[in-house]
Amino acid sequence: MNETISTILRRRSVRIYRPDAVGQAELAEMLEAARYAPSAMNQQPWHFTAIRNPELLRKLEENCKSAFLQSNVEALREVAKQEGFCVFYHAPLMVIISGNPGAIAAQYDCTLAMENMMLAAASLGIGSCWTHAVMMFHATEKGKAIFRELGVAFPDGHQPYAAAVFGWPAEPYPEAPPKNSDCITIMD
Ligand SMILES: Cc1cc2nc3c(=O)[nH]c(=O)nc-3n(C[C@H](O)[C@H](O)[C@H](O)COP(=O)(O)O)c2cc1C
Repeated sequence: MNETISTILRRRSVRIYRPDAVGQAELAEMLEAARYAPSAMNQQPWHFTAIRNPELLRKLEENCKSAFLQSNVEALREVAKQEGFCVFYHAPLMVIISGNPGAIAAQYDCTLAMENMMLAAASLGIGSCWTHAVMMFHATEKGKAIFRELGVAFPDGHQPYAAAVFGWPAEPYPEAPPKNSDCITIMD
């Protein structure tokens, strides 16, 4: 198996992080990988907001958690109610990819860019986890206002399409959860 495929198979959603920062050099490499993702008509309708400020992360987390607590999905409410649960898993870095909704396929473009970032992170030994609460919270009026209040502004008219936390795993990578194999049709 080549190195790229082995990185893809090794990547896991990491939910326990060491507090150490992700360095500028590693972040730059991850962002470079993200910017090289494919995008519809090469529109590259994205903007990358990397948040490393611990106080800002704390405030944003506190607010985003309310999106899970008020969700109409019972499983999300139950998870968020658990003692000590942190939607950002105390990771030292959050990246939000926002995009221009007027682009042909902003959501796909931003999601592909995030996957590139997660794979680049995994190749560097850095863990990641998609953080859906950010998009759920921003979709509310209160959420938009809090983002503005905290100064987490996106380029004019952009909306967040992908968000993930990153950091050094505090434990060895978790085992892969079950992955279905009965989802493939090959038509020779
Ligand atoms: C669209 C999307 C939303 C997700 N939201 C969350 C989330 O809010 N919190 C979380 O801990 N994991 C989240 N995940 C991670 C999934 O739970 C994880 O990818 C899945 O369980 C498979 O595990 P793996 O990534 O280790 O292969 C999300 C993944 C995707 C693709």
